[in-house]
Amino acid sequence: MTANSRAFDQWIRTSFCDLNTELEHLYWQQDDKANVVNIGEDLKQQLEAEGRALILPLLDEGNTDNGFDNAFDLLGNVGLYMAACRRHEITEPSRERSSPLIEASALAMHIGASIGVTPRFATAHLTTHNKAFNGNYKRFTHLEDEKVFIDYNTKAILAYKRAADAIIKIQPLGISHPITADLLNVAKQGLKDVIDSNKLLFEKLDTDRFFNCVRPYYKPYRVGKEVYRGANAGDFAGINVIDLQLGLCFANEPSYSQMLVDKFLYMMPEDQLILRDTMRRSSIMDDFLNVSACHKQSWYQENLSLFLDVCKLHGTTAIQHHNQLVGKYISKPSTGMADKHMDKVTASGPPLHVLLDSLEKLRDRRAAHKRDDIRTRYADIQTLKSSLLT
Ligand code: HEM
Repeated sequence: MTANSRAFDQWIRTSFCDLNTELEHLYWQQDDKANVVNIGEDLKQQLEAEGRALILPLLDEGNTDNGFDNAFDLLGNVGLYMAACRRHEITEPSRERSSPLIEASALAMHIGASIGVTPRFATAHLTTHNKAFNGNYKRFTHLEDEKVFIDYNTKAILAYKRAADAIIKIQPLGISHPITADLLNVAKQGLKDVIDSNKLLFEKLDTDRFFNCVRPYYKPYRVGKEVYRGANAGDFAGINVIDLQLGLCFANEPSYSQMLVDKFLYMMPEDQLILRDTMRRSSIMDDFLNVSACHKQSWYQENLSLFLDVCKLHGTTAIQHHNQLVGKYISKPSTGMADKHMDKVTASGPPLHVLLDSLEKLRDRRAAHKRDDIRTRYADIQTLKSSLLT
């Protein structure tokens, strides 16, 4: 890390976080908590100016060859700054045609293009690749609810990754291999950990604080001319590895492949490689369906039973995400929100009902629910279940 990047990192970890927290306190005192107009203007100016002063020398320095980790980390810091400017409406993509944060945009585009990721902050910057010093990792604010949100996002992402790492190792061994049972058990445990983590998040996170003081930092913002959609906890390959390898979702289905195409550059390069590899593979579900003649073999009975448990648990995580997390923290509070703020609710940009509809479809694919309008594995799961002897 260069002296300039260290100074910027230090600012992000201290004054930046203080300023955002002060602004959040001011917004929170209003009746219309979603309003940010004409509130704390001096603090906003200070935030913008201090960030710009630290970014200028980094742009002049112009090198990203201090290794991938440093470049990615610096991109995250520029991204946090740009996302905070967006949150406080120092920038607003519908108001502008190009980001007024010219230096920050240039630095973000330089780094993003050079390391093969989107030029904005991504989920990994705050979760899986967020270095803690003396117990403190980077955050936008000092608010406890933001910490709860990031802690449990990180926990769930890492647990999904553990499940995905195990599942991806099955195909080279084959579904009849005795060690495949071990891998399916590891996947089961990973998904149970996701469920436990989501439960705690659901209990601990305050709805109003999340909706008004945390979520707004995840909005889309402009870098240069382009608007980049917000970060969400799903921007890692593991969840899709599980979808595709289990066979619950299809990489050649238009809406699903659209989602994959859209998310590639929001993931770490190593995740991009894993996902590409997975998209070219056949699924474990199809492998079981193709060997129904072996259904009396003990390996078939044991491994299929574990496989169906894994599918069930994956479905449960999706039901939890949609019915509990999205329901409690996005859908419900949106109904009480002033109309003028409604277009700013989601991180990806589409109107809320469109977003909810696509998340519901994902839930139903993952849970293999019976649906007539989209392809799910409901019938295939029934066929496989009926081949179990007990
Ligand atoms: C996407 C809400 C926590 C995994 C989304 C989206 C919303 C959302 C609204 C759609 C993208 C957008 O915002 O435009 C929430 C809320 C959470 C939460 C309110 C908690 C308060 C989590 C956690 C995980 C997770 C802990 C676990 C890793 C995903 C995934 C996607 C996603 C994988 C991408 C779409 C998909 O593949 O399902 N989330 N989320 N979310 N979220 Fe969450």
